[in-house]
Amino acid sequence: MILITGGAGFIGANFLLDWLTQSDEEVINLDVLSYAGNLENLVSLNDDKRHIFAQGDICDSTLTARLLTKYQPRAIINFAAESHVDRSIQDPEEFIQTNIVGTFRLLETTRAYWSTLENKAKQNFRFIHISTDEVYGSLASEDEAFDEDHRYEPNSPYSASKAASDHLIRAYYHTYGLPVLTTNCSNNYGPYQFPEKLIPLIIVNALAGKLLPVYGDGQQIRDWLYVKDHCAAIRLVLEAGTPGETYNIGGRNEKPNIDIVHTVCALLDTLYPRADDKRYQQQITFVTDRPGHDRRYAINSKKIERELGWKPIETFETGIHKTVRWYLDNQIWVRNVQSGTYRKWIDKNHKERAL
Ligand code: NAD
Ligand code: TYD
Repeated sequence: MILITGGAGFIGANFLLDWLTQSDEEVINLDVLSYAGNLENLVSLNDDKRHIFAQGDICDSTLTARLLTKYQPRAIINFAAESHVDRSIQDPEEFIQTNIVGTFRLLETTRAYWSTLENKAKQNFRFIHISTDEVYGSLASEDEAFDEDHRYEPNSPYSASKAASDHLIRAYYHTYGLPVLTTNCSNNYGPYQFPEKLIPLIIVNALAGKLLPVYGDGQQIRDWLYVKDHCAAIRLVLEAGTPGETYNIGGRNEKPNIDIVHTVCALLDTLYPRADDKRYQQQITFVTDRPGHDRRYAINSKKIERELGWKPIETFETGIHKTVRWYLDNQIWVRNVQSGTYRKWIDKNHKERAL
């Protein structure tokens, strides 16, 4: 079996659901269920014995050691993190705790467990750390996309905490020989994404008749990756990646934020027209920019394409269509998410932006 952390969050839940449609290998899912962890994402696995859920914190070494000894996983995939840049600006402490201390504790417990394994199991063991392109900092429009050798220049408390965790991962390979691999991916989108991130926030606000907040001039560029393409890349890295290596994963979809917002609005105009027949784009409003807002991210995925044969299947057009459709078909999920603490936080964030 494998152990994943953060499997009730956006990418972890997609990974888990996809994994169990393709394999019978059991998965232990360690998740603290922060505001971003939602077991409703996994409701289809309620009677599935292949999913073993453990509520707990990656900082809790006693718990993780117990899970490792009991279940003897062949691999760990670390999705658990505080993941939202805006939250990291308002309240960085939790990012240091989970992303840095949590990764460190998980590495230490894993190292102790790994050292007890027999030769073959030890050799075959893998620890995959899921990281972000944000560790590389911001690109100018003429710069080459980030490759794996790009220097680390994190600009937000979120990206700095992820960068620190990446360095710990690297150190555990070089110092202890722990078979770790790191993936640095670009912005994911797709089903089950918490509506604090750009794409689901725009869909949900549009349907609720609210304003659609675009930070600054809306010309910041992200490289959008459909979450299921990302999950396929992680499966490949697990099975065929080389320990000690890093793989960058991007969607080949560089787009300015304002274009993303217009695309979502246009799709909604077709799939779910406003009752008054006006267009959703009239809800767009430009708001105060995010402090230290990175201008552009872009990923060079050539290494994983060349070495592991991965390529994204979705274009932005197909992926965004599926995503908007999913949110339209899952409005109960959205309502349930919104009734939690998330609502209070998002109100605060956007009030301070003087909408
Ligand atoms: P998310 O915020 O949706 O989910 C994070 C999950 O981790 C939640 O289920 C939460 O309950 C859990 N968690 C948080 N702290 C924990 C702790 N201390 N112990 C155990 N569980 C804990 O995040 P996501 O978007 O699914 O991101 C997953 C990973 O991918 C993160 O490491 C993130 O940095 C990375 N990443 C995400 C994106 C993106 O666009 N979403 C892009 C690049 C990298
Ligand atoms: P986000 O989804 O928060 O991801 P990240 O900061 O990790 O890239 O934001 C994506 C882009 O959209 C980013 O440039 C900030 C911008 N943005 C807005 O313009 N309005 C919003 O309400 C949000 C949440 C983000």
